[in-house]
Amino acid sequence: MPRAIISPSVLASDFGQLTAECKRMIKGGAEWLHMDVMDGHFVPNITMGAPILSCVSKAVPGIFMDCHMMVAQPEKWVDDIANAGGSLYCFHLEATSDPLSLIDAIHDRKMKAGVAISPDTPSTAITDELGEAADMLLVMTVYPGRGGQKFLERCVPKVSELRTRFPEKDIEVDGGVGPKTIDVCADAGSNVIVAGTAIFNDPKPDKVIAILKETVDK
Ligand code: DX5
Ligand code: ZN
Repeated sequence: MPRAIISPSVLASDFGQLTAECKRMIKGGAEWLHMDVMDGHFVPNITMGAPILSCVSKAVPGIFMDCHMMVAQPEKWVDDIANAGGSLYCFHLEATSDPLSLIDAIHDRKMKAGVAISPDTPSTAITDELGEAADMLLVMTVYPGRGGQKFLERCVPKVSELRTRFPEKDIEVDGGVGPKTIDVCADAGSNVIVAGTAIFNDPKPDKVIAILKETVDK
């Protein structure tokens, strides 16, 4: 299984201090930063888009932006996110009818491609061909749309199923993940860990990052 990658969700940060918060997370041991892009269509909320990501990538050189695209037309934003410095473009399988072509378009723009599935989408919706084409698979452990929700343990078997079929892929979990819920995620085989409130609401985020990382790599 690949090594642990911790990707703090900046949705839980103080947006007024966004670039400083990203730097603080990297200093605290985070490998990636998870950028939740919501468009008010795929999910009810609106968060941030390419202009903000562009500011972050300029202010934090070398940052790996793990862009979680909770958008209705994921094909539409590939160029903008690439131009803004996005490193990984993770779209929702529920939002596209042609995921393989979308992965090609993402790769053409030199980004890694991720495929996300919401709680009601079975892991088998990710075919062998699709899983092999993607660089990362994201199993949502809450319904996409906002931070601070309760972890849905019923989603965890999907991680195990995907890990069995894709032993070398990055498999990410997102939603309600923190020191209290990391054990089941790690046991099931996820290695990319998103945590928002569990990291940003803690006075010592570096300690939380270390706990998450050690649990995955143990
Ligand atoms: C939910 C987002 C998550 C969320 C995670 O729609 O995709 O990334 O911000 O936040 P926590 O860790 O607080 O559940
Ligand atoms: Zn997310």
